Amino acid sequence: MSTVATAAKPAGPPGAAGHPSGDKRFKILEVFIKRQQQRQDALIEVLHKAQELFGYLDDGLLWFVAHGLRLPPSRVYGVATFYHFFKLKPQGAHTCVVCMGTACYVKGAHQIVAALEQAAGIRAGETTPDRRLTLLTARCIGACGLAPAVVYDEAVAAYQTPESALARVKGWLSDGAG
Ligand code: FES
Repeated sequence: MSTVATAAKPAGPPGAAGHPSGDKRFKILEVFIKRQQQRQDALIEVLHKAQELFGYLDDGLLWFVAHGLRLPPSRVYGVATFYHFFKLKPQGAHTCVVCMGTACYVKGAHQIVAALEQAAGIRAGETTPDRRLTLLTARCIGACGLAPAVVYDEAVAAYQTPESALARVKGWLSDGAG
């Protein structure tokens, strides 16, 4: 098992031990962790960086972060599971986030979720087995005037209906499209 140096040096080669897998992203993350040691909010920053590098935070990655920051793994797990923007499972090639905040909910967001769940064969919060689509819900994405709103791969779409949502993700669910 790799070890992490106890003191970050301001300059020079990082000397990162990396990870037994040889995945270079662990070295990048380790260097980032060392730079964050002094910061109070280091854990959030490091988890963001880890997710940026790996796409999601699996058990091994959370352990790596806990070890690097010398924090109890339970604390790292707690933070990673508390914030909805941290993903603990692999995400699909495309992401669809249906806003379920009050304004969107009263205008039928739940029907959109139901239609998408049925079409994709997954529940909200899950990714299709072929990893083409991840279906998520959010509380309020700050676009209440556009309710019901859905975010398709970072693009906010207004006044959505089950039909418009299905038309939008159809290609993502078909072989070779999207
Ligand atoms: S409730 Fe959906 S954008 Fe605010």
